[in-house]
Amino acid sequence: MVRPGGPLEGTVRIGGAKNSALKLMAATILAPGDYVLHNVPRISDVETMSDLLTSMGLDVRRPDGHTLRIHRGADVVPEAPYELVERMRASIVVLGPLLARFGYAKVALPGGDDFGPRPIDMHLKGLHDLGATFETKHGYLEARAENLVGARIVLEYPSVGATENALMAAVLAKGTTVIDNAAREPEIADLASFLNRMGGQVLGAGSSTIHVLGVEELTPVEHTVVPDRIEAASFLAALGIAGGEVTLEGARSDHMDMLVAKLGQMGMRISPSEDGLWAMSPRRLSAVDVVTLPYPGLATDYKPLFVAMLAVADGVGIVTENVFGGGRFRYIDELVRMGADIRTEGHHAIVRGVERLSGAPVKAPDIRAGVALVVAGLGADGETVVHDAFHVDRGYEGFVDKLRGVGADIVRERST
Ligand code: EPZ
Repeated sequence: MVRPGGPLEGTVRIGGAKNSALKLMAATILAPGDYVLHNVPRISDVETMSDLLTSMGLDVRRPDGHTLRIHRGADVVPEAPYELVERMRASIVVLGPLLARFGYAKVALPGGDDFGPRPIDMHLKGLHDLGATFETKHGYLEARAENLVGARIVLEYPSVGATENALMAAVLAKGTTVIDNAAREPEIADLASFLNRMGGQVLGAGSSTIHVLGVEELTPVEHTVVPDRIEAASFLAALGIAGGEVTLEGARSDHMDMLVAKLGQMGMRISPSEDGLWAMSPRRLSAVDVVTLPYPGLATDYKPLFVAMLAVADGVGIVTENVFGGGRFRYIDELVRMGADIRTEGHHAIVRGVERLSGAPVKAPDIRAGVALVVAGLGADGETVVHDAFHVDRGYEGFVDKLRGVGADIVRERST
């Protein structure tokens, strides 16, 4: 339940990135031994990946707050069951490491979700270029590779997941692999730095051409997960709607250049600070147009946050989705129920800002849209009740407490 309140004020600690932690956990399949991951967020998607690794025979423990200890013994069951893949599509990233280490993997085929069809053709193409073969039976993909051999992989689109699977397979392949048109997200660079600590030879991660010199052996390591730029963006959106001044402790502004520039155009003042990022927002933002693109473009995960900010900004903004085909706009009906003036046309949304939204019961369709509905409630008269908040828990640790910590009027209630 969210009620409008005064401007936000104070400091929020930004946790580790979900979209890096999940892949680092999968990468522990690559070598036997003991791993320590620091700054791992306490979110349900991390629990799901822990359950998946545990079902494969790994031992995953969380001795305290944000540290994860993973023991990978000699034997691993190279299978990702439907129940777990169905809970989290990102489970598909165990495919590359299993193939690299065991030459075999059986993974349930991930279905579509709220964004529409989510094919894995580019994942399979990259692994096929390295020598893997595939068969699908009874909803499962069976992958085999006697020997993975380095090759030139050209991705049709800079897919994050396909780049990560190719990277984790190539690191143990014979010879050199070149991944062209690779994804450049900061989480890719974090995975590459983890693999290099393990003894891998990955060059150029973060650029669109990655070179991987295959090695014989890798060894377990200790690593700290990069901060979550999407979580940071969510608190900046809350600030943009409620006004005020906050510090995002641990946030990395160099991972958010495009976001900071765009919010600057809307009237926010943002600058790096000693311990992260400082930001101040006027009472009402100015509208801008927004286009989502692969990194370093504006992330598609920021988009619901921008639509929520534009819903109460001064002027009209056109939002264009270029990453997920289906437009990823289902939450817009919920915002319209709160009095927003938004029309969608294909993968565009035309958002005409209104002075104030009005609080209403709404339903979260996914992680990022759920958070966008919560922050929209900060700019609405009356009470906004966001149902299916479990979606938010998939990607955010203590979101309600962190918002309350900077003065938001928000409470969590278990729905019966
Ligand atoms: C990652 O998903 C993130 N998830 C997503 O964040 C994020 O939105 C997305 O990257 C884009 O930045 C995780 O890291 C767990 P893609 P991923 O492969 O890897 C198409 C969140 O809320 N495509 O880069 O699945 C695909 O359909 C989540 O944290 C193919 O067509 O994204 C999409 O349109 C949501 N064939 C586009 O590429 C393929 O084989 C980008 O997908 C692979 C992808």
